[in-house]
Amino acid sequence: MGFLSTVCVFFFFLGVKVYCQYENYQWDEDYDEEPDDVYQPEFQLRQNVDYGVPFYQHPLGCASECFCPPNFPSSMYCDNRKLQTIPNIPAHIQQVYLQFNEIEAVNTDSFINATHLKEINLSHNKIKSQKIEHGVFAKLSNLVQLHLQHNNLEEFPFPLPKSLERLLLGYNEISRLQTNAMDGLINLTMLDLCYNHLDDPMLQEKNLAKMEKLMQLNLCNNRLESMPPGLPSSLMYLSLENNSISSIPENYFNELPKLHALRMSHNQLQDIPYNIFNLSNLIELNVGHNKLKQAFYIPRNLEHLYLENNEIEST
Ligand SMILES: *[C@@H]1O[C@H](CO)[C@@H](O)[C@H](O)[C@H]1NC(C)=O
Ligand SMILES: *[C@@H]1O[C@H](CO)[C@@H](O)[C@H](O)[C@H]1NC(C)=O
Ligand SMILES: *[C@@H]1O[C@H](CO)[C@@H](O)[C@H](O)[C@H]1NC(C)=O
Ligand SMILES: *[C@@H]1O[C@H](CO)[C@@H](O)[C@H](O)[C@H]1NC(C)=O
Ligand SMILES: *[C@@H]1O[C@H](CO)[C@@H](O)[C@H](O)[C@H]1NC(C)=O
Repeated sequence: MGFLSTVCVFFFFLGVKVYCQYENYQWDEDYDEEPDDVYQPEFQLRQNVDYGVPFYQHPLGCASECFCPPNFPSSMYCDNRKLQTIPNIPAHIQQVYLQFNEIEAVNTDSFINATHLKEINLSHNKIKSQKIEHGVFAKLSNLVQLHLQHNNLEEFPFPLPKSLERLLLGYNEISRLQTNAMDGLINLTMLDLCYNHLDDPMLQEKNLAKMEKLMQLNLCNNRLESMPPGLPSSLMYLSLENNSISSIPENYFNELPKLHALRMSHNQLQDIPYNIFNLSNLIELNVGHNKLKQAFYIPRNLEHLYLENNEIEST
């Protein structure tokens, strides 16, 4: 530990903020720096709020189990209602909030008229992969955001609409990924797969590079033993914390010139090439809680470096 402090002081002179103790930081699902054309819902209401107009009849219709605010008629709120099935979604609805229910299945019937849907939030339910009717999401050709985190999915959902920009699948049990499952997702900017059961073979030959707009990829808390192959060169944020990755191939980051943040704490990194992090856009690097023994090159633009719990000695 005393040795580590020496390393910290040294790096500080280079203008890098080095975190030698564990510090909690926020890895937001949403990045502030996203371009303006990324879809944003018109507004958000807080969960569990009594909106106070129980007998209001929406002129275009609203499922009786749900609430459609008069001022925001394209949104339907059905969250926190102990629902076991998805209500029928009227044709004019663009955002449907179904999080925190007991929904087990996703059937085409509920969505039959809902061709204008842009956002579906089905997080915190009990959905299993085989209970998702084939093609139910793919038909929604305007869908840009799909929240399925905190469910019981065992398989990466397939097929999905090509319009999708943000796909949240964290906290499931995903251990299967069809070869072409990601192929059509050309507009995806954010993919969250943290807290699943992904391993190396699942990511082989999956053509992730075809997602040419992907900016953020979260693969934390999975079972990876090597760096994910074939990532798209658009990537800016890569999260790989708490896997079992032990090395980084020599030219791995050549294909990722835009990388801003790399999070790799809680892995098994031991020997890495001295220049591996010589990346001109890298601002944040977290390699805490690994087994690194030797110092490595710190790029000039780096602002945040996390190094705690390694075995680094000065040279
Ligand atoms: C779909 O729309 C048709 C025509 O407006 C209507 O009759 C039918 O009940 C709707 N179905 C659902 C499931 O909402
Ligand atoms: C979707 O549900 C999650 C809870 O899992 C919540 O944090 C998020 O704010 C919801 N998204 C929207 C746009 O309401
Ligand atoms: C992808 O995004 C572009 C730009 O927002 C849009 O014009 C295009 O229609 C989208 N593609 C699909 C398949 O939705
Ligand atoms: C890492 O994952 C293991 C389970 O695979 C879990 O027990 C542990 O709490 C996780 N550690 C962190 C720091 O997330
Ligand atoms: C870092 O990369 C640049 C080119 O991008 C190169 O000129 C420089 O020599 C490299 N520095 C080290 C220490 O490898």
